[in-house]
Amino acid sequence: MESTEKKIALVTGGSRGLGRDIALSLARKGTHVIITYHAKKDEALAVVAEIRKIGQQAAALQLNTGVVKSFDGFFETLKSCLKETFAAERFDFLINNAGHGITVPSLAATTEEQFDDLMNVHLKGVFFLTAKAMPYLNDGGSIVNISTGLTRFTHPGSGAYAAMKSGVETLTKYMAKEAGSRFIRANVVAPGAIATDFNGARLRESSQVQDYIKSITALPRIGQADDIGGVVAFLCSDEAGWINGQRIEVAGGMYL
Ligand SMILES: NC(=O)c1ccc[n+]([C@@H]2O[C@H](COP(=O)([O-])OP(=O)(O)OC[C@H]3O[C@@H](n4cnc5c(N)ncnc54)[C@H](OP(=O)(O)O)[C@@H]3O)[C@@H](O)[C@H]2O)c1
Repeated sequence: MESTEKKIALVTGGSRGLGRDIALSLARKGTHVIITYHAKKDEALAVVAEIRKIGQQAAALQLNTGVVKSFDGFFETLKSCLKETFAAERFDFLINNAGHGITVPSLAATTEEQFDDLMNVHLKGVFFLTAKAMPYLNDGGSIVNISTGLTRFTHPGSGAYAAMKSGVETLTKYMAKEAGSRFIRANVVAPGAIATDFNGARLRESSQVQDYIKSITALPRIGQADDIGGVVAFLCSDEAGWINGQRIEVAGGMYL
């Protein structure tokens, strides 16, 4: 049975792209939403305004998910935000979405700095942010980690990025196992190529890249941010209450 109490979601990287669509999709399903942003405060505040227009409460907090030592301070801020804006002590859904890509041709061309940067944001950050979020998550909640189709298939230059996401996919199974006793579920959504600002907006800006992606996708069009949010919102709903520890690829059938 669907519970009637309003839930609260925390979506990292909710200011743009997939995170924005995830936040709006959750709001449309009746969820209050806290988004985080890294640098683009104005975009984040615009998303907050959109969520309020839908009829839910919303807030935006600054967070660099690649700096673990900032997380204790972030959770102190979150605690005050939950109390002041939502009259709550905990939240229900954690969506680990924030992230960036790199543009390099190969493993050999990937620098140590790029590797560390990807690791900090996409793996270490997700690991420790989730660990520190656990006391604030309500029993019966849900964690959704955003991975990538690139953990199943390969693309030149994406090796370091995909390795971090593969780590998150494995981590998700452990999250599901360890949080299961509290009926908190953990799943992965793995998008294919989506036309956002990601990686210098290469997909959105280049018709050559678009033609290539269409040629290797069963559904011959380009993925958009609004292909993703509804799936994440579904995974947080009671309808998905028996889906746990799973990876769901949302890619229109790329490289089938
Ligand atoms: N687009 C794709 O093709 C695609 C495919 C598969 C998976 N993904 C994954 O989906 C997620 C979102 O990607 P997107 O396409 O929506 O990218 P995007 O449009 O570039 O948006 C990135 C979001 O993450 C935030 N962010 C970036 N670095 C951060 C950091 N160090 N700390 C905290 N927040 C940070 C940004 O905040 P600001 O706005 O403040 O900068 C923004 O909200 C990423 O994890 C990405 O790996 C994307």
